[in-house]
Amino acid sequence: MRYVVPFVAQWPGTLIAVNTPDAGLLAAAQAVEHYEISRYGTLKTWAEKLGMQQAVMLLDQTLTEEKNTNEAASRGDSRSGS
Ligand SMILES: [Fe+2]
Repeated sequence: MRYVVPFVAQWPGTLIAVNTPDAGLLAAAQAVEHYEISRYGTLKTWAEKLGMQQAVMLLDQTLTEEKNTNEAASRGDSRSGS
């Protein structure tokens, strides 16, 4: 996450300059969600391989929340977040 945040933090300022601050914030939020989805997906796969069923269930719930947040950002809904 520490690599993603500084990278996307540059976008809002750039987009505010062209008068589209919401687009910049939503794009930054989506970058974070994509990062989280990739990490939780990897952890879920490892948990499956290790037979850790409770962890699989919890990571699956978290993945669903992250995907829903990403879809909300895609629609331009900045009120949803996880
Ligand atoms: Fe998230």
